[in-house]
Amino acid sequence: MNKIIAPSILSADFARLGEEVQSVLDAGADWIHFDVMDNHYVPNLTIGPMVCSSLRDFGIKDFIDVHLMIEPVDDLVKMFADAGADLISFHPNATKDVSETIKKIKDLGCQAGIAINPAEEVLVAEQHLKDIDLVLLMSVNPGFGGQKFIDSVLEKISYMRNLIDKSSNQVRLEVDGGINPENISVVSEAGADTFVLGSAIFNTDDYSNTISTLRRNIS
Ligand code: DX5
Ligand code: ZN
Repeated sequence: MNKIIAPSILSADFARLGEEVQSVLDAGADWIHFDVMDNHYVPNLTIGPMVCSSLRDFGIKDFIDVHLMIEPVDDLVKMFADAGADLISFHPNATKDVSETIKKIKDLGCQAGIAINPAEEVLVAEQHLKDIDLVLLMSVNPGFGGQKFIDSVLEKISYMRNLIDKSSNQVRLEVDGGINPENISVVSEAGADTFVLGSAIFNTDDYSNTISTLRRNIS
């Protein structure tokens, strides 16, 4: 499976968001990772569907990977699908019926992902593997950018890689949190194919140079 680099706009300059997103895409990013926090499921508060549709109105046509860190989930699924999301991931313990939420996302024409926190087991993702498009393994506790990668997640990445390889379904394995040019190769070797990076891209001056380095380190 091809490797996807998905900059998290959490670390972008929100006052110039459209331009920031266009710049990382021009610099070689594959997807845009869109972190949604509600000050309830996680302590932080970020952006909602209006910002997603504003990016579409601005002219962004690339893949938008929405990561919902909100509770409950279902009502916002339709709003994000209408706002132009391509993939919607959610945390299973934030919804009443995981199958129902997956179905809702897919019925609206989006791909569906299940997000697993560092301290959680992958069992729910495993149980729903045949119905989803992506497993998102968190490598920091969700809520804030700029945290340190939790090394114990590497084992979980390898375990999930094996499960995905054994299943007949094409499922992406995304890792989110604390990735940088130094550790991305280890994350890739463990089995990830989709990499979310916020601070390690947006806190640099030359996005193109940073993304080229990242890509070189996972090839
Ligand atoms: C954390 C978010 C991540 C975060 C990644 O809750 O889901 O997407 O922004 O940022 P870095 O790469 O700075 O850890
Ligand atoms: Zn995220």
